[in-house]
Amino acid sequence: MVLPDAQTVTFVKHWTDRLFSFRVTRPASLRFRSGEFVMIGLMGDPDPKTGKQKPLLRAYSIASPSWDEELEFYSIKVQDGPLTSKLQHIKVGDEVILRPKPVGTLVHDALLPGKRIWFFATGTGFAPFASLLREPQTYEDYDEIIITHTCREAGELTYGAELIESLKTDELLNEVIGEGFWKKIKYYPTTTREESPKMGRITDLMRSGEAFADLGVAPLNPETDRAMICGNLAFNLELKQMFEDYGLEEGANSDPKHYVVEKAFLD
Ligand SMILES: Cc1cc2nc3c(=O)[nH]c(=O)nc-3n(C[C@H](O)[C@H](O)[C@H](O)COP(=O)(O)OP(=O)(O)OC[C@H]3O[C@@H](n4cnc5c(N)ncnc54)[C@H](O)[C@@H]3O)c2cc1C
Ligand SMILES: NC(=O)c1ccc[n+]([C@@H]2O[C@H](COP(=O)([O-])OP(=O)(O)OC[C@H]3O[C@@H](n4cnc5c(N)ncnc54)[C@H](OP(=O)(O)O)[C@@H]3O)[C@@H](O)[C@H]2O)c1
Repeated sequence: MVLPDAQTVTFVKHWTDRLFSFRVTRPASLRFRSGEFVMIGLMGDPDPKTGKQKPLLRAYSIASPSWDEELEFYSIKVQDGPLTSKLQHIKVGDEVILRPKPVGTLVHDALLPGKRIWFFATGTGFAPFASLLREPQTYEDYDEIIITHTCREAGELTYGAELIESLKTDELLNEVIGEGFWKKIKYYPTTTREESPKMGRITDLMRSGEAFADLGVAPLNPETDRAMICGNLAFNLELKQMFEDYGLEEGANSDPKHYVVEKAFLD
């Protein structure tokens, strides 16, 4: 069958029994801003009555940066999930549907200029930051980039940890942005249900002051700090409240301010 908006899978890697990443060809006409998401999917099962098939689409953050010639995605595997129960079995050469209409709030345009940018992620909420961490503008706009990633288990941090480590030897980015650009990054991974060097929810670690002491920085301040949040709904709401208490205001594409939020998935 010829799929509408079909793109070909070029790479698949399974990170845990619940997480995988994959790359697909990029439509020549697709332009997006690092941090945005698109709708992707597969053809659904035939309707038992009509035999017709409809695309089964879900929102996915583009994990690759805007300059990349392919598109990367970082995905959950929900065993009874309509899409990911199937998507988790894709192989190189298979086709996925990609609607080329990128949107989203986790973009530099939605923030006022600042000195330090914070990326706060839980689980697959790391995906938009995988894009922004490889985006030259991130390093042009900010002196310091702090990325926090909270997951249940240590293995769920590997995709992000390897990506950040790979920046050190990325010849293209070191040449384009400047040798040693990655030294601007402070990476703060934490786990909540399995032993790792730093245990606890980032929200609790910030409330107690432990995260700021570990990172050697002051709490967020509207004069200097900008932030992007991508996690589950409760996480997003909790951080939003904390930011409002720090005096930060939520921005949007049309009204840039101090922080922006996007859901990593719908509850
Ligand atoms: C703006 C936006 C961006 C998104 N970006 C991504 C992304 O980059 N990667 C990604 O894997 N998913 C992402 N999602 C979630 C994605 O759209 C789907 O929900 C997911 O692919 C599962 O699809 P499904 O049909 O298998 O199950 P669904 O019926 O969509 O979900 C079933 C249940 O699984 C849980 N669930 C769904 N997605 C996740 C997740 N990512 N992490 C943990 N639990 C989840 C929820 O409890 C949900 O109710 C995003 C969602 C939104 C709204
Ligand atoms: N991850 C797994 O191994 C696993 C396995 C089977 C099924 N599931 C199911 O899959 C779904 C999603 O699981 P997930 O682990 O990807 O995502 P999740 O439940 O959103 O948790 C991701 C991380 O965010 C933390 N977190 C949750 N709410 C928070 C808040 N308000 N403030 C700060 N941190 C917060 C969690 O800590 P806490 O641990 O303290 O909540 C966890 O470390 C759930 O329905 C879950 O039951 C997950």
